[in-house]
Amino acid sequence: MNATILALPGDGIGPEVTRAAISVLTAVGDRFGHSFRIIEGAIGGAALRNGEAPLPQATIDAARTADAILLGAVGDPAFDTGDSSRRPESALLGLRAALGLYANLRPARVWPGLEDEGPLKPAILRGTDLLVVRELTGGLYYGQPRGFGQDRHNAFNTMVYTREEIRRIAIVAFDAARGRRRRVTSVDKANVLEVSRLWREVVTEVGTGYPDVALDHMYVDACAMKLALAPSSFDVLLTENLFGDILSDEAGAIVGSLGLLPSASLGEGCGLFEPVHGSAPDIAGRGIANPVGAIASAAMLLDLGLGLPLEAQAVTSAIEGTLESGVRSADLAGGGPASTTDQVTSAILTRLTAAAAL
Ligand code: NAD
Ligand code: IPM
Ligand code: MN
Repeated sequence: MNATILALPGDGIGPEVTRAAISVLTAVGDRFGHSFRIIEGAIGGAALRNGEAPLPQATIDAARTADAILLGAVGDPAFDTGDSSRRPESALLGLRAALGLYANLRPARVWPGLEDEGPLKPAILRGTDLLVVRELTGGLYYGQPRGFGQDRHNAFNTMVYTREEIRRIAIVAFDAARGRRRRVTSVDKANVLEVSRLWREVVTEVGTGYPDVALDHMYVDACAMKLALAPSSFDVLLTENLFGDILSDEAGAIVGSLGLLPSASLGEGCGLFEPVHGSAPDIAGRGIANPVGAIASAAMLLDLGLGLPLEAQAVTSAIEGTLESGVRSADLAGGGPASTTDQVTSAILTRLTAAAAL
């Protein structure tokens, strides 16, 4: 296959982990005989530092013609003040909206060999394998009106969802559940919010079309608690935008590190694939970031972006083998000996190419 992949490394550890993911994609191309053309674009603080807008028009144009997008992270403390439209984060929100990427899939599971590494007792963590289906282009993130009142006396955002926005993300969640353990937990705050009451109503309606999928509803606060107490009880977690943002970071911590979590954002345009974590300014530039979230995002890109499930499985197996063999980046090493980003990546590449020689 010939495919053009737009790489948007972004800020902080973004370039470090994106480089790792690109090396894996290149190795997959070599092993399976595909020609992946990787082009690079500017986004976030990296674009601002070039004197460009956080989301340059050239990046949007490249995104519209690419077959898939691989993103590192955006966010830079140097640009934390000022107008929200000039923040690095606005670029990611703008790109998601421009491409109509309303469905964000964030799988979280215990990787083999990491059962003892997380903050939970291994017996509680065992068997955890869940998928957060997060609505990505609506809710508080995009609702109007928003802004500051006069003299910053107050500030306001609007949580709003249409029936159609809820319906289409619910369909994604139910369809995903059919390929898994056939359970959807819809997360809301229907005891307080009208938006959540509509959410519950529409999700229930959609659920009637999926009699083979069990549906339950949970308030977001209770869900946050149950995620820590019994993470293995969940299959698909269906959430609106902000709730999914929060619960997916919690899921990352539970399975051992936020640095492990990949994501796929799908919708009308081509897919965007990025780790769930951010630019991690506290560790950027030191070569110690965990590349697994980015590399696993490359696996999702192969599977869901390019329709290459066998290639994706080869990458997943290489990650599994590497973690099982005891290779640990600093976030997983608990103060013990740790491998650098490049060492973890090399170990994954070795497994990927060794398997080809079999
Ligand atoms: P963060 O996800 O960047 O970091 C949270 C913590 O997790 C930090 O201690 C960090 O060192 C650690 N961490 C994250 N990824 C890691 C990895 N791959 N390996 C090892 N450790 C890792 O969240 P934050 O600190 O709240 O935000 C930093 C910046 O990133 C902010 O500007 C924020 O807006 C932005 N952000 C961007 C994205 C994105 O681009 N998708 C996501 C979240 C946050
Ligand atoms: C994420 C991030 C983004 C979000 C920010 C950087 C806009 O936290 O992808 O989880 O809140 O969606
Ligand atoms: Mn987030």
